[in-house]
Amino acid sequence: MTRPADIFRTLTHGVYVIGVADGKKHNAFTAAWAMQVSFDPLLLALSINPRHRSYPMLKAGGGFTVNVLATDQLDLAAHFGQSGNIDKLADIPWRPGKCGAPILEHALSWLDCDFHHECPAGDHIVVFGRVIGGAIQRLGDPLLYRDTGNLDAAQDLFPPSL
Ligand SMILES: Cc1cc2nc3c(=O)[nH]c(=O)nc-3n(C[C@H](O)[C@H](O)[C@H](O)COP(=O)(O)O)c2cc1C
Repeated sequence: MTRPADIFRTLTHGVYVIGVADGKKHNAFTAAWAMQVSFDPLLLALSINPRHRSYPMLKAGGGFTVNVLATDQLDLAAHFGQSGNIDKLADIPWRPGKCGAPILEHALSWLDCDFHHECPAGDHIVVFGRVIGGAIQRLGDPLLYRDTGNLDAAQDLFPPSL
């Protein structure tokens, strides 16, 4: 019998660092659950655990950035996957997007989004953002979620069978 965790690993996701800001406070977290959901308007959706420190900052700041990681940036995926009251941006070069959310200088590419709306989704909240800016910053291939192993410890969160 195939485990649900292994079936879900065949879904294709990238790995992103989502930047948020609330005034002078900034933070960022690693996310795999982000995707384009509309052309007109140009919308992105990301699924965020509301218990993350980033969630109230995203709501207060009214926007977020999506920084796309490259295959050689697994260390950044691990770094921004950390929780707790630490300054994850301390030694990372970044600049603010429109609402102040961090754009990482070394990301493969980035998108800047205004908060559009949100929907509850079980233990997460799906946040929709309207894309207002973005750029490709360097050459490279995007990091794939399936190549991060069990970095997010998600395997333990799936039921053992369906
Ligand atoms: C590879 C990877 C993918 C992740 N994907 C998501 C995601 O899509 N949504 C989410 O809410 N958390 C995701 N996480 C977990 C958060 O990055 C993690 O809980 C982080 O500590 C939250 O940071 P914060 O509390 O500073 O906001 C992921 C973590 C990793 C390592």
